[in-house]
Amino acid sequence: MIDKIKEAASYIQTHGIIAPEIGIILGTGLGNLVSQVKVDITLDYGDIPYFPVSTVETHMGKLMYGELSGKKVLIMNGRFHYYEGYNMQEITFPVRVMKLLGIKYLLVSNAAGAINLNMQKASLMIIDDHINMLPGNPLVGKNLDEMGPRFLDMSRPYDPALIEIMEKIAKKNKLKVSKGVYVAWIGPSLETRAEYRFIKVMGADAVGMSTVPEVIVAHHMGIKVAAVSVITDLCDPDNIEPADINEIIANAGKAERDLVLLFKELVATL
Ligand code: HPA
Repeated sequence: MIDKIKEAASYIQTHGIIAPEIGIILGTGLGNLVSQVKVDITLDYGDIPYFPVSTVETHMGKLMYGELSGKKVLIMNGRFHYYEGYNMQEITFPVRVMKLLGIKYLLVSNAAGAINLNMQKASLMIIDDHINMLPGNPLVGKNLDEMGPRFLDMSRPYDPALIEIMEKIAKKNKLKVSKGVYVAWIGPSLETRAEYRFIKVMGADAVGMSTVPEVIVAHHMGIKVAAVSVITDLCDPDNIEPADINEIIANAGKAERDLVLLFKELVATL
């Protein structure tokens, strides 16, 4: 595994991507951040050794390197999900590679449904904690001792200082932002009414199908993590509307301007 990570990193370096400071993972319908980035280099996932390839249409499948708010950023425009058939190590492989390239921070975004119905569609939720309901953990298997500990502490996987900065930025710019717990659900089928009730009892505020594997692996390697959900739909078991993927993507688009502002200002402070 470590050799594959090194080979992918060295391929990326030979294409001119040197010493990125911040990694950014863009979720469903959230690719527009790149319009704010002075992009120097773009690589197709398919060309990078051992990189998985996005199978979801709304994910671009490109690694982009450039400058945002004066910092060197490396953007995964398109991510991998468990429901695509990749295992947890494959999903998180790019995060391991980004660490080897030098990132110190990882900013993660996703589209999620609101379990906590105080949240509105097209608002943002800063992720404060998570529940892993995926059928696996990316740290299962032989531990990569050179990268992190066997028994990883998870008391604070989302960096409290970064959360505080994001809350200040949100307040200053009057953005509709809340803070809460994200649960990763396997998908790709959406949840039933009974599952929404179960998820609420579990203590989650939002549900999606990603993020948790990448966060575990980033935290394992000592990368500081900030993550934000874009709330695309309301998961109300008593007033359920059939899930409309087009509406979900449209709402992700509506909140994207706020997410871009939040990440851009956050990067400026790092
Ligand atoms: N579940 C419910 N609603 C959603 C999801 C999900 O996984 N992702 C985006 N909206």
